[in-house]
Amino acid sequence: MSELKNDRFLRALARESVDVTPVWMMRQAGRYLPEYRATRAKAGDFMSLCMNTELACEVTLQPLDRYPIDAAILFSDILTIPDAMGLGLYFETGEGPRFKKSVNSVADMDALDVINPEADLGYVMDAVRMIRRELNGRVPLIGFSGSPWTLATYIVEGGSSKDYRKTKTFMYNEPEAFTRLLNKLADSVALYLNAQIKAGAQAVQIFDSWGGALSHQAYLDFSLAPMQRIVNQLITEHDGRKVPVIMFTKGGGQWLNAMADTGVQALGLDWTTDIGNARAQVGDRVALQGNMDPAILNAKPERIREEVGYILSRFGKGNGHVFNLGHGVTPEIDPDNVGAFFQAVHELSAEYHEN
Ligand code: CP3
Repeated sequence: MSELKNDRFLRALARESVDVTPVWMMRQAGRYLPEYRATRAKAGDFMSLCMNTELACEVTLQPLDRYPIDAAILFSDILTIPDAMGLGLYFETGEGPRFKKSVNSVADMDALDVINPEADLGYVMDAVRMIRRELNGRVPLIGFSGSPWTLATYIVEGGSSKDYRKTKTFMYNEPEAFTRLLNKLADSVALYLNAQIKAGAQAVQIFDSWGGALSHQAYLDFSLAPMQRIVNQLITEHDGRKVPVIMFTKGGGQWLNAMADTGVQALGLDWTTDIGNARAQVGDRVALQGNMDPAILNAKPERIREEVGYILSRFGKGNGHVFNLGHGVTPEIDPDNVGAFFQAVHELSAEYHEN
C-alpha cells in the first residue's frame, strides 16, 4: 500500500501534533455538488450509484478535487445492511428510503439473520479497494456504518420517521426481542466494518444519527450497549497502522463520558454541544470531531469564517481535534460557501498548533 501524503486526519485522531486542524464534512459527496448530481443521473438512481464501483469511486473523489479536504469518506449508505438482510431497500425520489418488506412482529425480527458482508455487500468492498487505489495515498479513507439503534429505527418503521413510535413501542414492550435484533445488527456492523478495514478503510465512523431521541437509560441500554458490542469486535490494526473508530451520536452531548469509556478513539459532536466543555469532560481519553451547525453554510462567507474561528478557539490549543460539521451538509448549500468553510479551517487553525 502506498504511503500517506497527508496523514493529518489520522494524527489528530491519535491526538498527535499536526500543522493545521484537519477537516472533512459529513455528506461531502452529495447533492450540493453539481458534479455529483450529474454522476447520479448517469447511474440512474442513488442505489445504482452505490453499486457501481467506478461511479461510487468517482463521487467519493469529487469533493477532494474541489477543496483542500483531509479525508475521503466511502460513498455508500448506512442502509446497505438492512438491504443485505433481505428487506429490499429502495429510494422514492424526494421521499427518502423505503423497504419492500415490513417488520411487524417478534417473529419478523427473529427471522432476520446476521449478514455475510463479503457475499452480500461485495460491491461496497470493491468500491473501498478502488477508492484506495485511486486516492494513491492523497488522504486517508474513512469507512462507516450506522449504529444498531439507528438501523433498527429504519427497519421497524420501514423508512424515515419523526418520532420512532413503532420502534419505541416495540423496544418498551418487547425489550428482549428488541435486544436480539440489536445484537444481530451489532454483529453485522462489526463484520461489515472489519471487511471495510480489510479492503482498505483506514478509520471507521459509526453513525448513531438518532441516538439522541432516546431517554437516558434507553440510550445506555439500546444504543450505547450495542455500539460497545461492535467496538469489542473490531480489528484495531491493519497494514501496520492503528484503525481509529469515531462514534457519532447526534444529540449525544450528555453521554460523552460513557461514549469515551467504550474505548473508541474519537467522538463526533453535533453543534448543540460546546466543544470546549466537551474537551474538558473527556480530557485526553479521546479526540473530538466537529462541530459547526451545517445551517451556517447558508450564511455569508465572513459569517462562516467567524464561526470556524469561534469553534477553533473553544477547542483551544493542542492536539485531538478533527474539524467537521455537526451533521451532514444539506443539498441547497452553495458550493462556494463550502469552499470558504474548508479554507477557513486551515487558515485559522495554524495558530493553535506549534509550527
Ligand atoms: O458522508 C458522505 O459523503 C458519505 C456518504 C453517505 C451517504 N449516506 C450518502 C447518501 C453517508 C455516510 C450516509 C449515511 C447515512 N444514510 C445516514 C447517517 C448519517 C446522517 O445523516 O445522520 C443516514 C441516516 C442515512 C439514511 C439515508 N440515506 C437517508 C435518510 C437518505 C435520504 C435523505 C436524503 O438526504 O435524501 C439517504 C440517501 C443518501 N445517502 C443520499 C446521499 C448522498 C442522497 C440520495 C440522493 O443522491 O438522492
